[in-house]
Amino acid sequence: MKPSILVARAVFPEVIERLRQHFDVEDNQEDKVYTADELASRLQGKDGMFSTLSERVDQALLASCPQLKAVCNMAVGYNNIDVDAASRAGVVVTNTPDVLNETTADFGWALLMAAARRITEAEQWLRDGKWQKWRYDSFVGADLHGATLGIIGMGRIGQAIARRSTGFGMQVIYHNRSRLAPELEAQANHARYVGREELLREADHVVLVLPYSPALHHTIGEAEIALMKPTAVLVNIARGGIVDDAALIRALRERRIAAAGLDVYENEPALNPDFLTLTNVVLTPHIASASVATRLAMANCAADNLIAALTGAVPPNLLNPEATKGK
Ligand code: GLV
Repeated sequence: MKPSILVARAVFPEVIERLRQHFDVEDNQEDKVYTADELASRLQGKDGMFSTLSERVDQALLASCPQLKAVCNMAVGYNNIDVDAASRAGVVVTNTPDVLNETTADFGWALLMAAARRITEAEQWLRDGKWQKWRYDSFVGADLHGATLGIIGMGRIGQAIARRSTGFGMQVIYHNRSRLAPELEAQANHARYVGREELLREADHVVLVLPYSPALHHTIGEAEIALMKPTAVLVNIARGGIVDDAALIRALRERRIAAAGLDVYENEPALNPDFLTLTNVVLTPHIASASVATRLAMANCAADNLIAALTGAVPPNLLNPEATKGK
């Protein structure tokens, strides 16, 4: 008998077909976002779940699904999953690193450029029929070329963002849990390691790419924003909760920083409605990895992990090897 899996959200039909070659698949191509109870009920008798960042996998869910052996997330981030609880329950957890690095780095730049050069604000003004004449100071923004770029979270995506900055003649400073090896710093446009406060003070623009954990909740709040230059742009492609959104809204409204480019929010998709009242913020709906090729690569990567996990192999992106000692 084939193992049984739940694909918790809609995904590329060809990936579902691929999974069907190995598993009895319950899909969700109508893309309902299940409540915790619905998810627990759908997972009864399932050996594995193909999940996305919308599915919360916590102690309670794991306790209610004793047959579950693998949760394979189609995302590099996995803060929707209590990995320790999964390990204790003998459930292997995987993510989809690497395949999205370059696409996500591209998007970080798109947000930075759009916010610094006020692109969405200017487009909205044009669409509203307000363009009557050219003016010397219409939508003047901040330059990126020659500026100092501060990157907080210098993993693979942060490094890919830094590499792109060479074309803009920028200097890169970064802060990270640990300092990169000298050869990686050299490849990342000779990025210079600095303390977080120094980065916030010195950077002309700041990009956040760090993974979320409760210890990093509100890494950027009122006090941190106060250190930034009034001309600075803040970009968040990390996770909601890394930034204190209410503090950011106050700072943007009072022009204590120039602008922000945001792809992630506290409590998304129900973002703070005050963001919508501001013109100096570019808002996108968590799409940094959303190129066709990359989303397909992520889905196939999650499928590879699930196939390995339920056929006795070591999944390529196993996050909790300790789980395999449990079941
Ligand atoms: C998206 O946010 C991801 O973690 O892949």
